[in-house]
Amino acid sequence: MIQIKNLTKNYNDYAAVKDISLDIKKGELCVMIGPSGCGKSTTLKVLNRLETPTEGSVFINGEDISNIDPVILRRGIGYVIQNVGLFPHMTASENIATVPQLLKWDKNKIGERVEYLLNLVGLEPFEYSKKYPAELSGGEAQRVGVARALAADPEVLLMDEPFGALDPITRSELQRSLVKIQSELKKTILFVTHDIDEAILLADMVVLMKDGEIVQSGSPTQMLEFPVNKFVRDFVGTDRALKRLSLTKVETFCKPAPYVSLNTDISNAVEMIDNGIYIWVVDENEKPCGWLDAYMDEPTGFVKDYCTIDSFENFTVSKKQSVKEALNKMIKSGVNQLVVVDGDERLLGEISIDDIIQKS
Ligand SMILES: Nc1ncnc2c1ncn2[C@@H]1O[C@H](COP(=O)(O)OP(=O)(O)O)[C@@H](O)[C@H]1O
Ligand SMILES: [Mg+2]
Repeated sequence: MIQIKNLTKNYNDYAAVKDISLDIKKGELCVMIGPSGCGKSTTLKVLNRLETPTEGSVFINGEDISNIDPVILRRGIGYVIQNVGLFPHMTASENIATVPQLLKWDKNKIGERVEYLLNLVGLEPFEYSKKYPAELSGGEAQRVGVARALAADPEVLLMDEPFGALDPITRSELQRSLVKIQSELKKTILFVTHDIDEAILLADMVVLMKDGEIVQSGSPTQMLEFPVNKFVRDFVGTDRALKRLSLTKVETFCKPAPYVSLNTDISNAVEMIDNGIYIWVVDENEKPCGWLDAYMDEPTGFVKDYCTIDSFENFTVSKKQSVKEALNKMIKSGVNQLVVVDGDERLLGEISIDDIIQKS
């Protein structure tokens, strides 16, 4: 979808981008990352012809962009930058409608599009459509910026540190919104950041740059697992093992675990524990509600008379959560294993700290 071939960009004698080549597939979210001044923004600007290559070329959909009228080219590319640059004298709706209006869309179609996009970026149309940029928080303004970039349904989105100026909580909300939007729309996105956690969270492919050159590219997992040199190792951080676990789902480490129900006869439960030290206990809906220890003195009756009941959140994780979240919970609760549950909160198995250490 986007092909950058041997791109070099010089400013006078200074090479801001040195002979980089890159292929971004349709529907892929590529994150370009690297320290300040390494040539990220320059690369993006070449892609929408705000800058002209000194050498090399860029193809979008197989077409050399130097043959496309810049104005036409930019209408097919959504561009989101830090501090958005919304037009201050226009409402949120009017800002979003800018390009469709230039394209002379029908008025009703524009209205519907604006409403759809406000919803998509998580802004209630009734509340926000008439607001001016000065009446929006930084995060809301940035959401409007994303909606505006998507207005004419471009195939390509270029995002230059779009969440860089936001506080950490708002930033993580917008990151999650983008993940959701992308899972729905599957745009081809080149996203620039200098934040490695943001890159790992968002990227299908990461491209790490230094001094105008690509040092390493690949999936976030590859980057964390096989950094090619010290620069990459330092850049991804000393906690790269933990970061990798943030990309791994609990279900990967889930193994079967025996369980009994509250109303199981205690003698049967004792047999099931066998030579283990505990067994999980579930309620009538197979929702975990506690556990039963092996050490009981001549028990009679039912599991419910002997088991330890705990609140669901304390000892369970969902199969879709990250292993890092599971570890975090184990450390906080001071336990070595947790029950893994499915979307309906039914017991699937368990995840243990030993398995995570041995298998990762
Ligand atoms: N218009 C310009 N004129 C001269 N030098 C520039 C210009 N734009 C960027 N540069 C230089 O090119 C290098 C790369 O800049 P940039 O692509 O903006 O970096 P990044 O976005 O990775 O922080 C920097 O050293 C910057 O000073
Ligand atoms: Mg920049």
